[in-house]
Amino acid sequence: MEKKERGSFKGSIGFVLAAAGSAVGLGNIWRFPYLAARDGGGLFLVVYIILALTFGFTLLTTEIAIGRKTKQSPLTAYKQLSKKWGWIGIFSCVVPFMIVPYYCAIGGWVTKYFIAFLTGHGAEAAEDGYFGTFITGTKEPGIYMFIFLVICAAIIFKGVSGGIEKSSKVLMPILLALVVGIAVYSLTIKSTNDEGNIVTGIDGLKVYLIPNLEGVGVKEFFYTVMDALGQLFYSLSVAMGIMIAYGSYVPKEANLVKSINQIEFFDTAVAFLAGVMIIPAVFVFMGPDGLSTGPSLMFVSLPKVFLAMGPVGNVVGTVFFAMVLFAAVTSGMSLLEAVVSSLVDGFGLTRTKATVIESVLALVVGLIVCFGYNFLYFEYTLPNGSVGQILDIFDYVSNNILMPFLSIATCILIGWVVKPGIVIDEVTRNGEKFGRKSLYVAMVKVIAPVCLIFLLLISLNIL
Ligand code: PFF
Repeated sequence: MEKKERGSFKGSIGFVLAAAGSAVGLGNIWRFPYLAARDGGGLFLVVYIILALTFGFTLLTTEIAIGRKTKQSPLTAYKQLSKKWGWIGIFSCVVPFMIVPYYCAIGGWVTKYFIAFLTGHGAEAAEDGYFGTFITGTKEPGIYMFIFLVICAAIIFKGVSGGIEKSSKVLMPILLALVVGIAVYSLTIKSTNDEGNIVTGIDGLKVYLIPNLEGVGVKEFFYTVMDALGQLFYSLSVAMGIMIAYGSYVPKEANLVKSINQIEFFDTAVAFLAGVMIIPAVFVFMGPDGLSTGPSLMFVSLPKVFLAMGPVGNVVGTVFFAMVLFAAVTSGMSLLEAVVSSLVDGFGLTRTKATVIESVLALVVGLIVCFGYNFLYFEYTLPNGSVGQILDIFDYVSNNILMPFLSIATCILIGWVVKPGIVIDEVTRNGEKFGRKSLYVAMVKVIAPVCLIFLLLISLNIL
């Protein structure tokens, strides 16, 4: 068979920005702040940072090293490490395949809000029922999802350095500047509450940063740790094939240890700053109750906050949703790439054919997800007790069941079957110093799989 030349990142910076672009997404901006608000503010932050430096670093290192060592897609990489464990690759490709459609559906919601604010309709987005009316609509969610999917697919279509690397180099610095700008602005706002007291952004920042240990017993602490662990998965883009695919495009001479530290730092910094953007603003205009709204924080509470800011709110809202859109696009395209690279390496398809096939499949499944709020509406109680529609079921199965399972299998393979030396040799192949080597070995062999088994048992409602 004719050997096609494999795409490659031109340099470490392009790789770090692309991987950070994948990691920084809706998880950082929409999920992290509401979890932090729910789980005792500063306490969640401390737990999250400790887990990121130990657990997150282990999984990120493992996947990127597998990718660069094998130079294969998620589907085909595991086979090269061990014939018997090649089946992990199927999960590693199925997970992103499942996530793409619903991530694009949510990406479509972000696109809709961005356009609403951009065209001066921010005040309407703040009205009660706006979000519900939009997502239950039969046409608009599908159209916006399609727009979002086309943007991601167009980038993937252009290849690794011409599409992924180039777009990340433009979008990520802009994203960072917008996040920092909005976070600083959020700290400067103030308003007078119902009791006539002035509430400032700094008061909100205190709620976010100072650990609230009221009512936190052993059980609550355990759940905070598990929430933080689940969030890490979501946030770092591990256990969904992406880091294997991106790792496979990294030049052999690049310093992986340094790149991994930078990706982790970028992802955690943006999650932290997302909290600084959102929590003080919501606290100033809606008080402590505004923070307990959970997942609807971004689409329901924030537009109300922008409205309360007065005329400047429409501008802040536009900038905010542009930033979220950039974050979602760089993540959406990485999910697509995980599947596309698997189709290329596993089935010998060209990138063009693979991109078209995956996009069409994502469109069809994505429409089913959108129709989950109207034609195909039903209520399903998930093992964690929450009631959800098709989107929530996809999210639960991929994030809470398949991803922990995939990571447990990867840890066993690396820790016990092929041995951690394979990863350590890959990240130190140019003589790099691997500072957390002993920690890595202990994590991949024992600590990570044990914690993940707990996470999986909780997700399945067995614990
Ligand atoms: N890590 C990205 C984010 O935080 O949004 C991308 C992502 C997360 C994709 C979770 C899919 C997913 F289920």
